[in-house]
Amino acid sequence: MAGAQGETRIPLFDIRIEDEDTEAVAEVLRSGWLSMGPRTEAFEREFAEHLGIEHVVAVSSGTAALHLSCIAAGVGEGDEVIVPSQTFVATVNAVLYCGATPVFADIVGPDDLNIDPVGVEAAITERTKAVIPVHYAGYPVAIEEIAQLCEERGLALIEDAAHAPSATSGGRKLGTFGFSGCFSFFSNKVLCCGEGGALSTSDPVVAERVRLLRSQGMTATTIDRHRGVATEYDVVEAGFNYRLDDPRAALLSSRLRRLDAEIERRRELVMRYRELLGGVDGLSLPWTDADVPGSSCYMTAVIIEDGRRDEVRRALRDRHGVQTTVYPAVHELESYRRRLPGLSLPNSELVAASMFSIPLFPHMSEETQDQVVAALRDSVGNSTVAR
Ligand SMILES: Cc1ncc(COP(=O)(O)O)c(C=O)c1O
Repeated sequence: MAGAQGETRIPLFDIRIEDEDTEAVAEVLRSGWLSMGPRTEAFEREFAEHLGIEHVVAVSSGTAALHLSCIAAGVGEGDEVIVPSQTFVATVNAVLYCGATPVFADIVGPDDLNIDPVGVEAAITERTKAVIPVHYAGYPVAIEEIAQLCEERGLALIEDAAHAPSATSGGRKLGTFGFSGCFSFFSNKVLCCGEGGALSTSDPVVAERVRLLRSQGMTATTIDRHRGVATEYDVVEAGFNYRLDDPRAALLSSRLRRLDAEIERRRELVMRYRELLGGVDGLSLPWTDADVPGSSCYMTAVIIEDGRRDEVRRALRDRHGVQTTVYPAVHELESYRRRLPGLSLPNSELVAASMFSIPLFPHMSEETQDQVVAALRDSVGNSTVAR
């Protein structure tokens, strides 16, 4: 199973572009319209329908969706926004872009990597404006509980659903519970186009404001003028260039048609990982079998006990060519350590030091998955499987 030492033989994620994807993008290129236009509008309608929500605004990244959500929720100087530390830094940066203060709440623990609603409630002050829970790895946070808390306390609920298109809680799609939902279509995501994102909302006023803000605050877009719908424009507030473009939107529309089937396959693979790795000493998998059907299964996290995480990762890479990745807690990153010296979030710190994710993609074969499992067993130094 060994290749050259350290050479990746089994990648963390792998994107399969089908002929229908290539054709969808080629058709846009042939149309001669490359910037935001009819394909972006079509994707917005399709993704809104997929989520079961009235409005989707496509943007240039998940970060842009978070930033515009914070602005639209009125987050500004002097406000506080409650966020997890166990997330990608974009969740927290969006708060800083608005001049507000991120307030970190800890996660539940190594069995549930999502923000703890009890910690969220404890972190609320009179300055709190919003809460941004992250559906980490595609597994729903206690969203009903947090939504109720936000409603009672008059806070905006901005769901970071970057990992969670198609995931559900109580049968309802994530990203539809609060003020807005934020999605990322970055390359490694379950629905991807390279760089892209979307904001979902049931509020037409929010949707309208975000449409303006994503395009410099202009009252008419380039496609409106091209179509003759408008001949001039005004700028009603200082916005951004956070537009998606039509080739990427067409790619997303094409891939969206396969999303549910791909997520179903991810779930089967995750259940198989859970079964095959369940008896390995020194290793555990967050969440439970019962959580898998509601998850988009974006990534498979593995927790290695006894401070051996880095050693196990090295063995996986050097001996088996299996790529893994780690997820630092945001409050432990240099730029945030400087802002919040001495902040302690024990569960986030424990998980950041003991977790990595292992390869998962919809077209992964069982044979490849078996190789990952064997490599993990070997690297953890345990070949005695209880089942
Ligand atoms: C949890 C989370 N939030 C936000 C983002 C930001 O998305 P993007 O990279 O599309 O800006 C990411 C992704 O990369 C993410 O993992």
